[in-house]
Amino acid sequence: MVAQTGPMLVVIDGPAGAGKTTVARRVAAALGVPLLDTGAIYRTLALVAQRRAVAWDDEPGLVALCTGFPIAFGALDASAQAQAVRFAEEDVSAAIRTPEISQGASRVSAVPGVRAALLGIQRSLALQGCVAEGRDMGTVVFPDAPFKFFLTAALRTRALRRHTELTQPGVVPPSLEAVERDVAERDARDTSREAAPLRKADDATEVDTSGLGLDEVVGVILGHIAAGPRTAAERQI
Ligand code: DC
Repeated sequence: MVAQTGPMLVVIDGPAGAGKTTVARRVAAALGVPLLDTGAIYRTLALVAQRRAVAWDDEPGLVALCTGFPIAFGALDASAQAQAVRFAEEDVSAAIRTPEISQGASRVSAVPGVRAALLGIQRSLALQGCVAEGRDMGTVVFPDAPFKFFLTAALRTRALRRHTELTQPGVVPPSLEAVERDVAERDARDTSREAAPLRKADDATEVDTSGLGLDEVVGVILGHIAAGPRTAAERQI
């Protein structure tokens, strides 16, 4: 192990429904650092594009929307269960979580110009240290992060988790089969795209969350962090 200097930067990548957001929130709260939910940035772009009638594959139109993208994240709430997302002062936290915007986020995030245009924003939001979660944190956005994790879980487990999230009082949830199809479709697009596809960084620690509870996953990650960053030699293992 080597000493950790500078702002604390922890990155957590993985496919939809692997538990990244929930785990990242808890890890950020435990470490006392902000959470950077990069999926929310792509979701917000998809929402703004839809409202301004810019197609989710219109590269120049989307890139123009990314200029000076006025996104801001609130602090985690006391129970580390929610984080407000604002765009130009409007609270878009709920509007970006619909199944339609999930698909839109997956579509806009496959556009190379969009990924390049959003790099600077992600890095500037992490300057003071954070737990950053997404798909390409360890491979592209923060390749030098001292702590990298890649969460996985079986497709059915991930679909069940998403289904539970979508089951709100007073709302008819989609069927589990529809959610599983949706997750599989996003997996296929996220891993097969040319620009920064979802993949584990060689030096990331993989955690299969299928049989683990939330506290166990958080415990595993905090345990690795307490042991200190990996040395260059350890990263080759
Ligand atoms: O994590 P999420 O479900 O909120 O992400 C929404 C979409 O954004 C997902 O389909 C993939 C994409 N995404 C990405 O390509 N890169 C990131 N760093 C984060 C999310």
